[in-house]
Amino acid sequence: VSYTELYRPQYHYTPARNWINDPNGLVYADGTYHMYYQYNPGGDTWGAMSWGHASSKDLTHWKEQPVALLARGYPDNITEMFFSGSVVIDQNNTSGFGNKGDAPWVAMYTSYYPLQQVLPSGKQVRDQQQAQSIAYSLDHGATWTTYDEHNPIILDPPAPYQDQYLDFRDPNIFWYQPIKKWVAVISLAKLHKLLIYTSPNLRQWSLESEFGPFNAVGGVWECPNLFPLPLDGDESKVKWVAIVGLNPGGPPGTVGSGIQYFVGDFNGSTFTPDLNSIHGGDKDSERTRSFANSPATDDNANWLDWGPDFYAAQAYNGLPQDQRTIISWMNNWQYGATIPTSPWRSAMSIPRQLSLKTIDQKIAVVQEPKESWKAITEAGNVSTVPSVTGVHRLGEIGKAVDIQLTFPSREAATNGSSEFGIIVRASEDFSQQTRVGYDFATQQVFINRTISGDVSFDSTFASAYYAPLSPATDNTVTLHIFVDWSSVEVFGGQGQTTITTQIFPSDNATYAQLFSTGGSTNNVQLSISKVRSTWT
Ligand code: FRU
Repeated sequence: VSYTELYRPQYHYTPARNWINDPNGLVYADGTYHMYYQYNPGGDTWGAMSWGHASSKDLTHWKEQPVALLARGYPDNITEMFFSGSVVIDQNNTSGFGNKGDAPWVAMYTSYYPLQQVLPSGKQVRDQQQAQSIAYSLDHGATWTTYDEHNPIILDPPAPYQDQYLDFRDPNIFWYQPIKKWVAVISLAKLHKLLIYTSPNLRQWSLESEFGPFNAVGGVWECPNLFPLPLDGDESKVKWVAIVGLNPGGPPGTVGSGIQYFVGDFNGSTFTPDLNSIHGGDKDSERTRSFANSPATDDNANWLDWGPDFYAAQAYNGLPQDQRTIISWMNNWQYGATIPTSPWRSAMSIPRQLSLKTIDQKIAVVQEPKESWKAITEAGNVSTVPSVTGVHRLGEIGKAVDIQLTFPSREAATNGSSEFGIIVRASEDFSQQTRVGYDFATQQVFINRTISGDVSFDSTFASAYYAPLSPATDNTVTLHIFVDWSSVEVFGGQGQTTITTQIFPSDNATYAQLFSTGGSTNNVQLSISKVRSTWT
């Protein structure tokens, strides 16, 4: 394939062909970022779930690698699929899988058994059971051996949840030095609970505690992650962040999947959310409003991203704590299988480095787009547009661009301006366009994709998405916007608010313009840089 097909992302990862969903086993080792992911080797919709694999030296240029874990019995007689999970480097060879002093890599994943069967380990699994298994690699992640002697190493959910064996999945594992043990966070999806286990050796696991349900509980909870982050850059003030995928039940105004987060503390066995990170486990509790920038909706969860196309995010193992970096699946279960791309389906988000910052007296997860921008963008010149009233044409800016916009908000509002922003991926007559902007009255950033191109494949796709964003202390608003051949991601402010959307515009939709509705927006700082393909 050429990586120049219509809609092919130029600086977001896609496999050459076929379906992908969740990133799995993100691990950094020996100067290489590995990314495994849910992959169907045989088609462009979900099925035959295997672990695909790609690697990168810079989180920007990726090389697709051979499939790491192929569905057992593929293609005609599948008896086990490899669902989501994580990878760790077992430095001290606690698992004993290592040989000759080289640390083994260990993957823990959910085995999905389409049929009841007795496994080589002698364990019996039921029809459609989900259980947790491990595999190891002795060649730095290239090839993997499943631990068939004992898999699944966690067969059933613990009492009193044994009946949840159909919805017990997505182990997220990490080493926790203070107790010198491995920790696994596993979802009881239908019950909106996370179970926390520990292990000395990655083979035997003991249940420590459970978390949830809290905040948003639409659909199922899946793909959990738990990790520490220093607060406001202070390594002596470490907080823990739990992120949880919901499907359906994403952010307000979206249909389908989304991710919420909780900030709290972890003591090696229990994750305790901060009181202002939850709004009570029962709906009668008026106790605390969520601390995140919550709009006036009932659903005041802390959303990691406010768009429809950001799901199943996972953080890298193997990076220093202050470089915590996540990648998510840039698609949505609502229409994931019908997006009009070929011969691949679904892309990954831009990798995002996370930090925790106190903003407006609240602790927020802040995201910074992390690629080797210098290698793929021209240095953008910052220009000042003295005043925008109505529209300000920018001509053809292209299909893959990095745009930064800063504008004063109070003054614009005083001028009667209701919305300011930029239209991207527009056709010459602007009948096709995607709007990214800011609403001064409601203090919300938005992406409107109602006429963004092909929206026909799903009735919920043609929509606008809003997210709260207060102006900075100097009353300006900054929007950092990443446009690719089939996506727009906006990072608002310091990155405390993001919106991620797919779009499917025509090939000639390369025009852009600024807009200011209702009155003028003055003193706009604008920079636009073309982003080069990472595939050439
Ligand atoms: C989330 C998910 C996971 C599961 C995987 C299967 O997108 O449903 O819970 O492990 O996809 O492909």
